[in-house]
Amino acid sequence: MAALIDLLGIRHPIVCAPMAGVAGGRLAHAVSSAGGLGMIGARGSASPEWIAEQAALAGAGGTPFGIGLMAWVPQRSTQLDAVIALAGEQRPALVSVSFGDVTEPVARLRDAGLRTACQVGNAADLEMALAAGADLIIARGGEGGGHGRDEMGTEAILDLALGATDRPVLAAGGISTADDVARALGKGAAGVWCGTPFLTCVEADNTPQARTALVAADDTRYSRVHDVAQDIAWPREFGGRAVATPFVRRWSGDEDAMTGDARGEHAAGRERGDTDYTPLYAGVGVDHLTAETDAASVVRALVDAI
Ligand SMILES: Cc1cc2nc3c(=O)[nH]c(=O)nc-3n(C[C@H](O)[C@H](O)[C@H](O)COP(=O)(O)O)c2cc1C
Repeated sequence: MAALIDLLGIRHPIVCAPMAGVAGGRLAHAVSSAGGLGMIGARGSASPEWIAEQAALAGAGGTPFGIGLMAWVPQRSTQLDAVIALAGEQRPALVSVSFGDVTEPVARLRDAGLRTACQVGNAADLEMALAAGADLIIARGGEGGGHGRDEMGTEAILDLALGATDRPVLAAGGISTADDVARALGKGAAGVWCGTPFLTCVEADNTPQARTALVAADDTRYSRVHDVAQDIAWPREFGGRAVATPFVRRWSGDEDAMTGDARGEHAAGRERGDTDYTPLYAGVGVDHLTAETDAASVVRALVDAI
């Protein structure tokens, strides 16, 4: 644990996962100010200007922060250039690249002197991340919110990663309580990488309506429903865990048969801000979200048993 804290310049071994659309510079700054490490989640479409703006918010006053990119997106190279160009207070303490071929991006980041992390969801991901030279391994199980693999649970992928490397391994997926954190550290994780516990923070970039719907929700589904409905080209092996709204329940497992009418219904629902259609990505820990909160309270609650 000491190693991760020293490595990243933080006080608690808690990383707030990069979450596109939710974790921007404001949330990252708030998490890091509370002693964890806040990560900015870049959408596939994020521009170099957006990345620089969010980095300035996150790193204000020299606060450490990280940035998370997605390996499969066509804009990957431009986004890597933008991250590598950051300097001074805006230089990230950690850059993650996940979901797809991480070999070239990790090499470029390392050549630029940046510390890297990759989320891994099975043995092949793990082997690729280690061979690429990722400094931190994020063992991410299918309980997790947002996109990823649904092949292995968090404990199983954590055990696999811990057995395969001496590099720091962080546990991710469904880690929501102080006991979950203590258990992961007890197994040998160097820290935890949590997304869902931070979804109802006031510093997040999601809407108050989305936060209210997340508090009300208690069930999630792993599917490709929102990506198919919006025609987003995520590779098939990376589905996403989201709140199980009636639309998600109707089409999960049947995505390839989704009709034009259903896509239209989804678009219209999103347009009018109906949270039955908003992609509310969240992990199994969604049932622990009981109210709107703030980043400092979430970090404090997570470290309560260590
Ligand atoms: C709303 C949301 C958006 C996410 N966006 C990203 C992202 O942009 N990049 C990324 O690497 N992971 C993303 N993830 C996955 C997280 O990095 C992480 O694997 C996950 O949140 C861990 O599980 P938990 O949500 O149960 O804590 C996202 C997760 C959520 C909930």
